[in-house]
Amino acid sequence: MRPLVAGHIEALTPYVPGKPAEELERELGIESAVKLASNESPIGPSPRAVEAVRAAAATLHRYPDDAAHALRMRLSALHAVKPEEIALGHGSNELIDLCVRAFVTHEEHAVIGAPSFACYALSLQAANIPTSVVPLREGLFWDLDAVLAAVRPETKLVFLDNPGNPTSTHIAGSALRRFLSALPPNVVAVVDEAYCDFVDAQDYESALGMRGLRERSLILRTFSKAYALAALRLGYAVGSAALIAYLQRVRVPFNANALAQAAALAALDDAAHLQRCVSLNGRERARVSAALSALGLGVAPSQTNFLCVHVDRPAAAVYTALLQEGVIVRPFGPPLHRHLRISVGLPEENDRLLAVLPNVLKRIPTQR
Ligand SMILES: Cc1ncc(COP(=O)(O)O)c(C=O)c1O
Repeated sequence: MRPLVAGHIEALTPYVPGKPAEELERELGIESAVKLASNESPIGPSPRAVEAVRAAAATLHRYPDDAAHALRMRLSALHAVKPEEIALGHGSNELIDLCVRAFVTHEEHAVIGAPSFACYALSLQAANIPTSVVPLREGLFWDLDAVLAAVRPETKLVFLDNPGNPTSTHIAGSALRRFLSALPPNVVAVVDEAYCDFVDAQDYESALGMRGLRERSLILRTFSKAYALAALRLGYAVGSAALIAYLQRVRVPFNANALAQAAALAALDDAAHLQRCVSLNGRERARVSAALSALGLGVAPSQTNFLCVHVDRPAAAVYTALLQEGVIVRPFGPPLHRHLRISVGLPEENDRLLAVLPNVLKRIPTQR
């Protein structure tokens, strides 16, 4: 019999999401697990978004507006671009997949970094695209010269997350400009700005302002993080009308559902809620980061809603011990197998982590 699937599909390992709090509560028979594992907003969605979802629920029997006219108009005004320069996706995750399907074939080539967002590698592998993986400096900082050096004549796609996940670090605007200018014109540069709302570094610049540097560039944004709508799955891409039209060709119809469109419009109108989420994150990020440093742990300079923490021990062991204490964080494979990614939560959630961590660390010897 012929194999059911091709070798590259056989070799795929599915994406591993953060452990749901309810799952740990069931396992431990407890009621108050703290989830600091998926970089979600700890304060929840804007009440206006919740109300918009309620109102939109009355028309669940209708298909959504496939063109998402109102939302694309709203986003085009926000970013001073044309509506035809915006494509929506079922999370920015779908847009990553659409970029792979639209812009690169298995006779061409893509470049990604490691560690960076896991779904770039997954989408590329699912489509059997030859891919070069460029290590980050110290596993934490983009090495853009190395990315450029990995580009070949057949390279069509590069994914950069800025700020990065799971690293939490950012690329300075001047370095990103140089990179986007130096990248050969063949290449579609996808700059994924999922965490841009949490940035306070003075030298950060969104690639939205760099679109003039090259025709083939796309910027990805999401409603899952600062806008706190992760469950609704909505992201968008901004790029030239020509590139966006190809994303529209390969997407499935109605990929941005009606509840998500309604909620996003309402969330965009609630600037005060967005500001609350960003300010709380800024305060708690600084506080938790200082407390972890005081425990002797290395904390990468975060521009996101999570911390990438060098625990100086096998991180999987620390992760498992924290689970026993009802706290869910996120471990990673090499080169970050001594790091944990810890989302910034509510003050009381962060306090839970900080209360149990010293004892957990005492129980697990350092091992270099
Ligand atoms: C860098 C980055 N890009 C994209 C995503 C996907 O976000 P979503 O599909 O929820 O829009 C994530 C999610 O964690 C991320 O960290």
